[in-house]
Amino acid sequence: MARILIAYVTRKGSTTAIAEAIATELRAAGHTADAVEIEKVSSPKGYDAVVIGGPVYMGHMDGRMGKFVSRHYPDLAGVPVAGFAVGLAAATHDPEGVAWTEKALRAALDPLRPVAETVFAGKLDPEKLSWWQRWITRKAKSPVGDFRDWAAIAAWARDLPGKMNV
Ligand SMILES: Cc1cc2nc3c(=O)[nH]c(=O)nc-3n(C[C@H](O)[C@H](O)[C@H](O)COP(=O)(O)O)c2cc1C
Repeated sequence: MARILIAYVTRKGSTTAIAEAIATELRAAGHTADAVEIEKVSSPKGYDAVVIGGPVYMGHMDGRMGKFVSRHYPDLAGVPVAGFAVGLAAATHDPEGVAWTEKALRAALDPLRPVAETVFAGKLDPEKLSWWQRWITRKAKSPVGDFRDWAAIAAWARDLPGKMNV
C-alpha cells in the first residue's frame, strides 16, 4: 500500500474539507494518506504519490501551488502526481470558466504532467469575504452557497490509485 500526500492551498477554508475527503477515500482503500496545507509540507520526499490542489481566485490558481512545484520539482517529477482546482465555475456548470480553470491548473502544475486533473465546485460564504471580495463576487454574479459535491470528490479519489499505479 502506498503513502500519498495531499498538499493543498486554501484562503477561506473550503478546500481543506475537500483535501480531507480525498485522504479519507484513499485510507479506505488501504493507503496511508496525509492531507497537509502546502506551506506546512517541508518535503514530499518519502511519499509514493502526491495530489496537489487549491482554489482559483480571479482566474488564477493560488501562487503557493506553483511555488511548491518549483521548489520540490526534483522529488515531484519522480512520483505520480494528480491535481485539482476548486472554484465556482464548476458550480454554475460554466464550460468556459471550467476550461479556463483547467488551463490555470495545468499552468500551476507545469512542468509536471499529472496523471489526473479535475475541477471541483467550491463554496462562497459572503461572511468570510473582505468588502471588495464581496463587491467583486456580487458584480460577477457569483453564486452564494456550498456547492462541494462530496460524491464527485470521493469518486475522483477512488480512481486515483489506479491512475497513479500505486
Ligand atoms: C474574490 C474571489 C474571486 C474568485 N474568483 C474565482 C474565479 O475566477 N473562478 C472560479 O471558478 N471561482 C472563483 N472564486 C470562487 C472560489 O474559488 C471558491 O470560493 C473556493 O471554494 C475558495 O476556496 P477556499 O475556501 O479554499 O479559499 C472566487 C472567489 C472569490 C472570493
